[in-house]
Amino acid sequence: MGFKIAIAGATGNVGREMLNILSERGFPADEVVALASSRSVGTEVSFGDKTLKVHNLDTYDFSDTDICLMSAGGAASLKYSPKIGQQGCVVIDNSSAWRYDAEVPLIVPEVNPDAVEGFTKKNIIANPNCSTAQLVVALKPLHDHAKIKRVVVSTYQSVSGAGKEGMDELFNQTRAVFVADPIESKKFTKRIAFNVIPHIDVFMEDGYTKEEWKVLAETKKMLDPKIKVTCTAVRVPVFIGHSESVNIEFENEITADEARDILREAPGCQVIDKQENGGYITPYESAGEDATYISRIREDATVENGLNIWVVSDNLRKGAALNAVQIAELLVNRGLIKAKKQAA
Ligand code: A2P
Repeated sequence: MGFKIAIAGATGNVGREMLNILSERGFPADEVVALASSRSVGTEVSFGDKTLKVHNLDTYDFSDTDICLMSAGGAASLKYSPKIGQQGCVVIDNSSAWRYDAEVPLIVPEVNPDAVEGFTKKNIIANPNCSTAQLVVALKPLHDHAKIKRVVVSTYQSVSGAGKEGMDELFNQTRAVFVADPIESKKFTKRIAFNVIPHIDVFMEDGYTKEEWKVLAETKKMLDPKIKVTCTAVRVPVFIGHSESVNIEFENEITADEARDILREAPGCQVIDKQENGGYITPYESAGEDATYISRIREDATVENGLNIWVVSDNLRKGAALNAVQIAELLVNRGLIKAKKQAA
């Protein structure tokens, strides 16, 4: 017998990708249930060659469900995840609601898989912020080799990170520019079509945004609390795929060639780094792919042991849905959960 798995937020960008990835990877599920708000009840979503009817998260009984992949936003997660966990169903949550809770493991399977064992305290496991996930996949093997002291990251984040409404806004504004209609901005604070916006999530007291803070807090929690991280997070008019320009200062010596060889062998990483026209990755090419791509690896001569790299990944996949499914696989492969129906 396989597992019973629920997707909460199944009608959203990440929820739909979770369904695709579960199907693609042949996750050992006997039953998959799609959940969303009462607005979506009765609508359908695709799961492989099947369609699933959407049920109401609010009234769903999780007592015979083993895993809930939750991507319904922070407010819904704060409301529902503890109750779901108490029903003995492990929640893998994509929002930021639980990431900084000391009793909730924050996991990227390529980086800190052993930390998953701590999930039993709340039955909740957090999935990191999309920008952090791809960043730590690239940093981990370099940190293991030469010990990272400091990271300066600038992100170029696609509109799909802001959900379906973000994608619609870029599409509608781009169309409006061409047909000379008025431009409406609802999801973003300024026009996103043919523009970039240096503001993601709310402002904090120190002038940074919450998105920027997440990158440093989550990198410390998953990789090493001693690493210093500073970030500028920017929204760009790209539909899918986040890019990052990353400057890294190491404790020990590391050359660009060594870094290239290390990253070539590292789990989840793919190096595309020919120093010629087009010999690098762009976010458009990362869409629909699982890898964290690394290009433009070069030494930074302005510090003692420094490198610059360009990191790109599909934010809906490694940055969200794929990582969540990989965490579920980790639970199954390590025998940390048993299917309830089999156990009964
Ligand atoms: P719905 O489509 O019924 O509103 P995205 O981030 O792409 O906009 O998707 C958000 C997902 O989270 C959608 O599936 C949405 O469902 C779901 N969602 C948002 N708020 C709630 C809620 N309070 N209860 C259940 N599902 C929710």
